Amino acid sequence: MSDQPSKLPQTEPRFSATFDKHTLSEIRRAAATGIYDIRGAGSKRKLPHFDDLLFLGASVSRYPLEGYREKCGTDVVLGTRFAKKPIHLKTPVTIAGMSFGSLSGPAKESLGRGATAAGTSTTTGDGGMTPEERGHSTTLVYQYLPSRYGMNPDDLRKADAIEVVVGQGAKPGGGGMLLGQKITARVAKMRCLPEGIDQRSSCRHPDWTGPDDLEIKIAELREITDWEKPIYVKIGATRPYFDVALAVKAGADVVVLDGMQGGTAATQEVFIEHVGIPILAAIRPAVQALQDMGMHRKVQLIVSGGIRNGADVAKALALGADAVAIGTAALVALGDNDPHLEEEYNKLGTTAGAYDDWHEGRDPAGITTQDAELMKRVDPIKAGHRLANYISVMTMEAQVIARACGKSHLHNLEPEDLVALTVEASAMAKVPLAGTTWIPGASQY
Ligand SMILES: Cc1cc2nc3c(=O)[nH]c(=O)nc-3n(C[C@H](O)[C@H](O)[C@H](O)COP(=O)(O)O)c2cc1C
Repeated sequence: MSDQPSKLPQTEPRFSATFDKHTLSEIRRAAATGIYDIRGAGSKRKLPHFDDLLFLGASVSRYPLEGYREKCGTDVVLGTRFAKKPIHLKTPVTIAGMSFGSLSGPAKESLGRGATAAGTSTTTGDGGMTPEERGHSTTLVYQYLPSRYGMNPDDLRKADAIEVVVGQGAKPGGGGMLLGQKITARVAKMRCLPEGIDQRSSCRHPDWTGPDDLEIKIAELREITDWEKPIYVKIGATRPYFDVALAVKAGADVVVLDGMQGGTAATQEVFIEHVGIPILAAIRPAVQALQDMGMHRKVQLIVSGGIRNGADVAKALALGADAVAIGTAALVALGDNDPHLEEEYNKLGTTAGAYDDWHEGRDPAGITTQDAELMKRVDPIKAGHRLANYISVMTMEAQVIARACGKSHLHNLEPEDLVALTVEASAMAKVPLAGTTWIPGASQY
């Protein structure tokens, strides 16, 4: 008889790190359907981010400011370079461009109400300006996009600023998508396109082949708006030093820089996860370009892509930005992906917090849909109030940090206030690794 045990001990089944569960299910899905995955939201993988930075705070060598007695300003003025009417905001937290079509009318109204109560701006998006948003947003930035869907000169004149969109962080080099399910009669009419048919927005402006054409376009927009309104240029983070320099040379008053964590209404998953660079890596080269041109703080820099709380705001500003923009977080504040709708998310085969099929138009929260019944679930007064609360909390959190660093205005935060937790973040944000004076790649060390 053998003395081998009849059953050998079992080891845990082991999944490959390369072929993990999600990858395997994606291969099966592609094999079964023959179509690529489209979804909304931003990159879901772990990327270098603001969490990889820490503030040093004040101690013996610096003294902090007292919360109750010593002021810490939060206001920002955007568009001081050429515009006769720059934008004055009480907080550097702005609402990013999100299209009507991707979002419902009540969601747009909620954004307008919330931003106005918080003293900040909202931004239109692909598909034009809605009365809901213009009516409730005191400061409204009007996007001028490659698609020109919903664009008209009357709305340009109704705006408080104009944002020329070159690209987005979630899909630099790509255009938007709005699938047929969301093209209702109203959306179709605004875009001058047929109802119920998928729309793919163009990836580049029809009348440009380079930065010289951007210069001509900016000049045209200034003329149409009598040099009153600030002209922003929005770019996806790819080659930030050169792109920012060229946008400034072309005449931008404000540059909006959107990193790869940035949300989108709908695009190919492969695009979201594999094109562009994280905002953490993009801010310093962008600021460097502004500094090299003598334009830092003269042309304002708004950054976006995964901004969630006051610490993110403070870190972005410390790295040299003038303001931030939020998309995904604003939708969550309105009620998107809320656990109280868990049962309904389950019916869609997902769970609260992971729902990203925004292109399908079946959002139980009524935010990323054009379904007449679902959108009734948004109460713009309540949702607007929640957004205003959230922006106010973010602003106060940023203030708490700035005071702890001894700064009397959020804009006095600087890279010197920061250290990095990882070698990658240190190299990207160009601040020392915590506890050292080492910045990888910086020649002075
Ligand atoms: C639902 C939705 C719709 C969007 N629509 C547009 C758009 O029409 N134009 C645009 O430039 N960016 C659009 N974006 C991108 C945002 O303007 C912004 O760059 C991004 O949301 C910022 O990242 P965050 O979502 O992590 O805050 C959209 C984003 C979302 C979530």
